[in-house]
Order: sequence, then structure tokens, then C-alpha cells
Amino acid sequence: MKTNNRYKIITFGCQMNLADSGSLAALMNISGYEAIESEEEADIIIINTCSVREKAEERVFGRLGDLSRIKKENSFKKIVVVGCMAQRMAEKILERAPYVDIILGTDQMFALPSLLDSDNHTPQVKTEFGFEEFDDITPNRDYKYSAFVTIMRGCNNFCTYCIVPYVRGRERSYSVAKIINQINGFTADGVKEITLLGQNVNSYDDEGHKFPYLLKRLADDTDIKRIRFMTSHPKDLSDQLIEVLASESKLMPHIHLPLQSGSDSILKRMKRVYTYSHYLELTKKLRKSIPNISITTDLIVGFPSETEKDFEKTLEAAKTISFDSAFMFRYSVRPGTAAARFIDDVPESEKIKRLNTLIEVQKKISFEKNQSEIGKVQSVLVDGYSKRGEEYLKGKTGGAKTILFPGNADIIGDECYVNVTSADSWTLHGKLVE
Ligand code: SAH
Ligand code: SF4
Ligand code: F3S
Repeated sequence: MKTNNRYKIITFGCQMNLADSGSLAALMNISGYEAIESEEEADIIIINTCSVREKAEERVFGRLGDLSRIKKENSFKKIVVVGCMAQRMAEKILERAPYVDIILGTDQMFALPSLLDSDNHTPQVKTEFGFEEFDDITPNRDYKYSAFVTIMRGCNNFCTYCIVPYVRGRERSYSVAKIINQINGFTADGVKEITLLGQNVNSYDDEGHKFPYLLKRLADDTDIKRIRFMTSHPKDLSDQLIEVLASESKLMPHIHLPLQSGSDSILKRMKRVYTYSHYLELTKKLRKSIPNISITTDLIVGFPSETEKDFEKTLEAAKTISFDSAFMFRYSVRPGTAAARFIDDVPESEKIKRLNTLIEVQKKISFEKNQSEIGKVQSVLVDGYSKRGEEYLKGKTGGAKTILFPGNADIIGDECYVNVTSADSWTLHGKLVE
């Protein structure tokens, strides 16, 4: 056994970062390192970072500041920064946090065990892009019965506000065989539900095998019970995909389809390559083919040149489409992106005002949407106890909503039917159907 081998991973950012942290943890474990809960006691502290908005980056710097104290008390500890910020701003990290030992970009983080093994002088920085393939490990995960499966990396879309293509590199898809292999590892370990991850799953391409083909193969050739995916770009959501969603019962009736703005001129400046009416048509098609589908979205307010009128179009869009839920953001300038050259002309106070207005509107819509579920019976994967205590079990509906209901621990991990009895903007409550 190695000495000074206890590590702790702290993860910021999106689900892909959670998935990457899970893969890194599995790799650390098979390389002789041991996960530990306590930051104080860990010999190696790894921060997996996010660059999507300035606030996300500031949060990481705040955390690094806290770690400087731990490092002062015990200089043998290693501090490692990986992921999107490591990719984007390695030098700045070393400037602001010179006590960081190792910095690894999004495609280099899996080199960590071998770097730790080699006795090189620090700091070490590696940020080259290059596909890291490592087969036959089943990534660690936070939940026993559900797991993330990354099916592709990178993004080619270059929406003008977005840093992701710069920090994640170009699109690359994992092979169908490799994905099936990973899912088999998960199902053998008790996983019932997977969420397939990619910045734009619609452009999945394994030597001509596209996303609908992958979904069909996963439904037919694996033992996984429930399949979800995210994110879909509205510009290339195909009829075949809608068909597969409608016909395959293992595919959950949920789509995360970021609209970003309800104004065509803003969508154009964002380089989203679709119009609001195209988006609206898509949601109609989806609801016609899959009547119980839940549609969720991402919205940005305060993009450069957004007028009050543009913003009202976003509000109108939210009301017209009636999203089940939405992630809503204030525009944040990302240096190096195309939009960083536009004048960031919406004052911060106005951005905050618009965001709050939008959040209030969406809260009401989510409430009404959830109220309309009352009296319906939902297929639920029970994933454990509610935070409220052991009288309540917690699960996720097909439409990806959290539902709480009284029940016995012996059904944790099962799919069961729950009748919805009440609902607020965030959560459903129900009763088990025998
Ligand atoms: N690939 C996904 C997710 C990208 S990041 C997609 O295309 O939808 C997640 C969300 O963060 C985006 O959908 C967008 O709404 C938001 N976002 C990205 N860059 C941003 C920025 N500079 N300012 C504010 N929000 C941003
Ligand atoms: Fe960013 Fe657009 Fe790519 Fe999504 S599709 S990751 S928003 S550039
Ligand atoms: Fe995800 Fe943030 Fe990177 S959203 S892809 S961790 S910039």
C-alpha cells in the first residue's frame, strides 16, 4: 500500500464534471489511492473546476483560498486543480494560488495517478487536448441506483457566450461498444437508471452510428431499466430521435432543450442557429408524440444588446411553452468568446431585475405544471430516504421530478407506481399504488 495516499475530490460544475470525478476516483482507487471524506485528513485534495460563468470561477478561487491554510499547516499535502478552469487559466491559478501542486486540463486529468506516482518537482501543468481512453473501469458514482455515462466530449457549436468549446475541445464520441461495456459494468453493480451525457447529444456520431441508433442499441442490448440523456441542441433535434423517445419504453419522457432566449435577434447574436418559432414547433411535435413528456430548459437574461422587449419575448416564451422547470442565468462575460467582443451593455442591476422577474414567472409555471400531475400515477425509481427522515421515500418520476411518499425501505432501488396527491413548484408528493 502507498503512503500519503488518501485523496478527496471536490467537484464544481455540471454533470459531466460529476461523471469525470467519478472516473477519476475509480482510476485513483485502482492505482492504490484511497478516498477519504475529510479535507483536513486528505493527503491529496483534488478540485474539479467549472468556467461557465465568472461566479463559478470565483467560487473555486474562494475554495483554493481556504485550502492555503491547510497547506500551510501541512506542506506535504498535495493540491491538485483539474477540469475546465485548469484548461483555461493554468497560469492565473498559479499566480493566485502558488501553493497548487498539479494542474490538469479536461483531457489530462486521468494522468493524475501516474503523475502522483512519479516523483517530479511541482508545480506540474498539463493541458494538451487528446482523447483519454481507459477501458474496463466502472466509474464511481454518488447514487447507488443511477449513474452518468459520458457518451461524447467537447463541443463544436461555439455559441457566442459560451466557454465550453474552448475548455472541452472539439466533439469526440465514444464508441457504441464502449458505452455498452460501461453500462454493463453499472448494471452488474445494481444501477437501474443511466443519464447519457454530452454537450450536444444530437451530434453523437460513432463512425456513422448516430444518437437514435445508440439509444435503440442501449434499450435492446443492455439490462438497464431507465435511460435519460442531456443535453439536446434544438438546432438538430431530429424526427428519428422523437420517434425513438416515443416508442422505446426504457427512454424516460423528459427532454432538456435549452432555449436560451425567446428573441430571434438575440438567438442570432448568440449563434444558436434556430428561431423561436422553430423551437416552439419542436416542443409541439414532442408533446404530440409523447403526451406526458416533461420539457426543461436553460435561459439567459441580459445578453449584450438585450432590450426590455427582447426580455419580454423570453418571458412570453416561458409562458407559452410552459416549461416543467428551467435553469435561469444572468449573462456573464467569458473572456475569449465571441460575445466578449460585444459591449456588455445591460447594467448588472437590470440583469438581476430581469432574472428575478423570470424566476418568479417560471416558479408559477412549474407550480401549475406540477399541480396538473395530481391524480396521475407515475412510474418512479426509488432511490432512498427523503432528507425529511425515514418516514418518506424519495424517487424520480419519468419526467425527472422529485417525488416523496411514505413507504418501506425494502423497495429502495425498485421501480414502483406512485399516485401524485399534492405538489409545489419543486416537488411532488404521493402514495404508493399496490
Ligand atoms: N451544452 C449544453 C450546456 C452548456 S452550459 C447546452 O448547449 O445547452 C449550461 C448552460 O449555461 C447553458 O445552456 C447556458 O444557459 C448557460 N451559460 C453558458 N454560458 C453562459 C454565460 N457566459 N453566461 C450565462 N450563462 C451561460
Ligand atoms: Fe456551449 Fe453552445 Fe456548446 Fe452548449 S452547444 S456547450 S451552449 S457552445
Ligand atoms: Fe461543465 Fe462548467 Fe466545464 S458547465 S463543461 S464544468 S465549464
